Amino acid sequence: MTRMTADILQLTDLHLMADPNAVLRDVCTRQSLIDVLQLAKTHSQTESLDFDYVLITGDLTHDERFESYEVLRELLGDWLPRCRLIPGNHDDRALIRQVFPDLVPTDGELINFSVESAGWRLIGLDSHVDGEVFGRIGESQLRWMADELTKHAAQPTILFVHHPPVSVESAWLDRIGLQDADALLDIVRSFPQVHSISAGHVHQEFAVTIDRVEIVTTPSTGVQFRPREDEMVCDTMPPGFRIFHLADSDYTTQVIRLPDPTE
Ligand SMILES: [Fe+2]
Repeated sequence: MTRMTADILQLTDLHLMADPNAVLRDVCTRQSLIDVLQLAKTHSQTESLDFDYVLITGDLTHDERFESYEVLRELLGDWLPRCRLIPGNHDDRALIRQVFPDLVPTDGELINFSVESAGWRLIGLDSHVDGEVFGRIGESQLRWMADELTKHAAQPTILFVHHPPVSVESAWLDRIGLQDADALLDIVRSFPQVHSISAGHVHQEFAVTIDRVEIVTTPSTGVQFRPREDEMVCDTMPPGFRIFHLADSDYTTQVIRLPDPTE
């Protein structure tokens, strides 16, 4: 039997703006994304990785403008066909559909995905709620997820969702978390093939294991928030991305960041 492996790149919280020089909390989000994409390319070459999928887990734009989504499409370049997207609170589903009709479902309301890679199942959930900062998956999408998990019970699985389904021990971020996290985790508990849940939204790296499921969050490609603060404090940690290495029924994951300019 040939050993199947794959590498998955997760990018999150890009917060792109139509103005190329626009700055969010002292970070030019467009230049920062360009730098992170370059680092991911260099890393994939030096480590001989060929990303099977590039998963972008929400807050693709900050200003929710057509031009900003078009800039993202351009910046993804050769990687575009292997990208899968889910929205965050800062996103507009209609514009995502307009700019990425080849990457997202054209029917139904939600923008989610369920794909296979090296025998693994990768499921992306849409937690966007119009006009709100918090997230919700909703009953019908939870049923869809349970159906996918039932259909692919033999495949080890990782779930992706913008809003983390756990506390990240920062009061201000926990207030704008995933409202139906308990319903999600209840379903996950009954499907032992789910190994991990990876989120964005909190602009920091965080990890906790609940009932053998490793729940992680991934740094933004732009602005970073300092962990374990009760109010928003920006962090000087550099932007970055997360990689999942999938092999047989096991995986490893790591966060990689841009070099720290202060070091
Ligand atoms: Fe964000």
